[in-house]
Amino acid sequence: MDSFQPSHILVQRLPRPPENGRRYFLPLAPAFLSSGWELPFHLYSPLGKDRVVPFLSRGEKIPARLYDAILRGRATPYFYVRSDERASLYRYEEDLLDEILETSQTPLSLRCRALHNLTAHLAREAYENPHRDTLSRQSAHCQKVTAFLDRHPPAVARTLTRMGDRRYSDHGHAVNVGFLSLAMAKTVHGRILDSGDEEMASGFFLYDVGKSRIQRQILDKPGPLKKEEWAEVRKHPIYGHSLLERSCFFDQPALQIALAHHERLDGRGYPWGLCGREIHPFARICALADTFDALTAHRPHKSALSIYSALSLMKQDLGSRFDGRFFDALVLLFRR
Ligand SMILES: [Fe+2]
Repeated sequence: MDSFQPSHILVQRLPRPPENGRRYFLPLAPAFLSSGWELPFHLYSPLGKDRVVPFLSRGEKIPARLYDAILRGRATPYFYVRSDERASLYRYEEDLLDEILETSQTPLSLRCRALHNLTAHLAREAYENPHRDTLSRQSAHCQKVTAFLDRHPPAVARTLTRMGDRRYSDHGHAVNVGFLSLAMAKTVHGRILDSGDEEMASGFFLYDVGKSRIQRQILDKPGPLKKEEWAEVRKHPIYGHSLLERSCFFDQPALQIALAHHERLDGRGYPWGLCGREIHPFARICALADTFDALTAHRPHKSALSIYSALSLMKQDLGSRFDGRFFDALVLLFRR
């Protein structure tokens, strides 16, 4: 890496999205920088905590010695790409992911980070622009995620649950919930596909996509919501179900995750007040992951709970809100 200092220093801040139209930077996992591949975007390297510098230019081929440094674990955890080149970035990642996941020469931790990286990008796109093309790409990607997790031991699923950003954002939260839910499903069923549904992963990552139809000012409101605002928020499972159903890319279990992830075993949830087994088991898994990740995330209005405190708090709601069998699977993810 020492030989890859940029030829001209142009330090830029690394603003955190969303920036409402302003440019920001998106992370790129190093495993995507395999030797000889041609970059379709400018690549930046981090400088300190919140700055980047130009590193490689669009059209340059990735030098072999950079890839060697990456394989030896001497590269930065992430490189960066400007947000105005995000379309090229996402396509590049989608084109190369299969090859990366199957390259045994690349350490498993780097392959996991690449998988997590693209999952986060596609989730971001789906939550911001839930159109047919975006949802179709998300559906195809989620099948790869499931296949990858089923090819590897449960420890890999657990590794992916720990790669998320602990600062809260809608799509970041959805990615954490998706990987947590899949890891729980793998704990319960052994192979995820043995649970009987290939589209489950899509439901776990897109369960909250109905929030895209709710005004941002309501979702981001710092204080308590008015009655009519809260009533609107409670419609997001119906909005999400309808959005996924209309796309025709998802089957019933995925739709049920979007529709029923706020239902409670005692019937006091929403939108329908379903009870116990009326709630799809995948939705019961998602409810646990959703609450756990929300409790352990850093948010502007609240500090993050420790894993132990969050699990202790949730344990009080077993039987009334949460399913004990799936709660045990969640606890197992954090046992050493
Ligand atoms: Fe939700």
